[in-house]
Amino acid sequence: MTYQTLLVEQVAAVGLVTLNRPSALNAINSELIDELNTVLDGFERDASIGCVVITGSTKAFAAGADVKEMAGLQYPDTYLDDFLGRWDKVAQRRKPIIAAVAGHALGGGFELALMCDFIIAAENANFGLPEVKLGVIPGAGGIQRLTRLVGRAKAMDMLLSGRTMNAQEADRTGVVARVVATEALLESALQSAQAIAAQSRTAVMMLKECVNRVDEGALGEGLRFERRMFQAIFATPDQKEGMGAFIEKRKPDFGRK
Ligand code: CAA
Repeated sequence: MTYQTLLVEQVAAVGLVTLNRPSALNAINSELIDELNTVLDGFERDASIGCVVITGSTKAFAAGADVKEMAGLQYPDTYLDDFLGRWDKVAQRRKPIIAAVAGHALGGGFELALMCDFIIAAENANFGLPEVKLGVIPGAGGIQRLTRLVGRAKAMDMLLSGRTMNAQEADRTGVVARVVATEALLESALQSAQAIAAQSRTAVMMLKECVNRVDEGALGEGLRFERRMFQAIFATPDQKEGMGAFIEKRKPDFGRK
């Protein structure tokens, strides 16, 4: 089976998905998220696969949700479609998923990585939720998951400014499991995934389920609230200005000094 936005292969007992929209720095559009869910459905059913790796290119894991696809959306379309609702299926998978991140992991790209069970970062990785610069907020769980990982102060710093953190800061603050040389990223992630796939399948899946229990109730409520706020922001002129400015390659004018 071939995909428009992904490269998919099996390496021993590991399912490997490479995000593949190089002209848009792997920005995540509906086609990509649908294809990713189809592939992950297949991996869940395939008994020969014990662990999954999601990666991108050396330049970008993914530079966000696709702004060009989103810019013209109106509220209540976003609400009626439960826009971004399908993304969270990635976090609900039962087999473990490692995100192998090099280059930009921004906005929805960072959120996708945060839905995985852990992140291995290349030295050149940078992470951020820059949505505020587009006049919107993250909507795919980034606010909830980043805040749980790094705590309120660091999360506020990043979210309110839209700044990025490099791989070292991500390592220090618990965003990533470890940092490896950029050229060693895929090999390192595949090795970890293979080691996981070689363990008891039942024990591994039970571990994942138990760790996810740590904050499941509170997280679910937060995720729903974050997504609804994101959907509602499409009723604002700032969303049109912010996303429009990105597409027109100019600075947004939110009427502030
Ligand atoms: N959506 C759509 N297209 C994107 C994109 C995105 N998120 N990010 C990059 N691209 C496109 C650019 O428009 C450009 O296309 P053209 O060649 O057709 O102009 C191409 O990818 C290459 O990008 P740049 O020329 O901008 O590359 P750069 O190296 O100069 O800059 C970057 C890289 C800093 C990552 C810059 O592309 C950037 O800031 N991207 C947007 C990051 C962002 O704001 N992400 C959040 C999106 S909103 C979101 O994700 C909401 C949510 O919570 C789900």
